[in-house]
Amino acid sequence: MPGGMLLSEIYNQIKYNIKADRIGPDIPFTHWRLYFRSTMKKICTKKFLYFGDGAQFRAGAYAVGCSKIKIGKRVVIRPNTMLFGETNDPLDVSITIEDDVMMGVGVQIYVNNHRFDTSKTPFIDQGYYPDEAVVIRNGSWIGANVIILPGVEIGECTVIGAGSIVTKSIPPHTLAVGNPARVIRKIE
Ligand SMILES: CC(C)(COP(=O)(O)OP(=O)(O)OC[C@H]1O[C@@H](n2cnc3c(N)ncnc32)[C@H](O)[C@@H]1OP(=O)(O)O)[C@@H](O)C(=O)NCCC(=O)NCCS
Repeated sequence: MPGGMLLSEIYNQIKYNIKADRIGPDIPFTHWRLYFRSTMKKICTKKFLYFGDGAQFRAGAYAVGCSKIKIGKRVVIRPNTMLFGETNDPLDVSITIEDDVMMGVGVQIYVNNHRFDTSKTPFIDQGYYPDEAVVIRNGSWIGANVIILPGVEIGECTVIGAGSIVTKSIPPHTLAVGNPARVIRKIE
């Protein structure tokens, strides 16, 4: 009977959502907790490897592989952000966002690439290249809609302009912009 089927789907979703190593609008039965400070803090402290004092994870943001992600003190993760920290390799930490980092909306961080060694086999069957952790050092500012690719480290107190695609590590105390992101000046 359709009603009974829906009820069992809801039950299975609730069970999956509670255990899932992820948070986001696609995980509704834990996502609602992000709307309230106390429940937000509780679920984030439980799901993330580290969730610093004063950190916030706002409704509308996604994180996958939370148990490998560190979010530093006073870091606010805003709507449409995607922290894709799920790791196929045994990386202890996939994404580290250190203390006092500011991030605009819609930032995307990835730690893996699909293999595409040959076009004779569908890429979907080729697995992944080894995962590479991403680190954002203390006090940086990541503009809105920045995309950070696997293996990138963003140095301390560095600014990344809005919409930049960061393909390589960026040194500390610099401003980098564009696609691919290039350092355009130092920040004294
Ligand atoms: C980078 C930024 C902070 C401006 O810094 P600035 O030192 O004032 O830089 P300028 O505006 O003088 O720009 C310097 C050069 O970089 C370019 N530039 C600036 N921001 C850029 C961006 N996001 N992407 C690509 N190029 C950019 C400018 O066009 C300029 O190029 P030119 O020298 O060829 O004319 C600003 O452009 C920016 O991206 N802010 C992010 C805003 C945001 O995401 N807010 C979210 C709230 S958390």
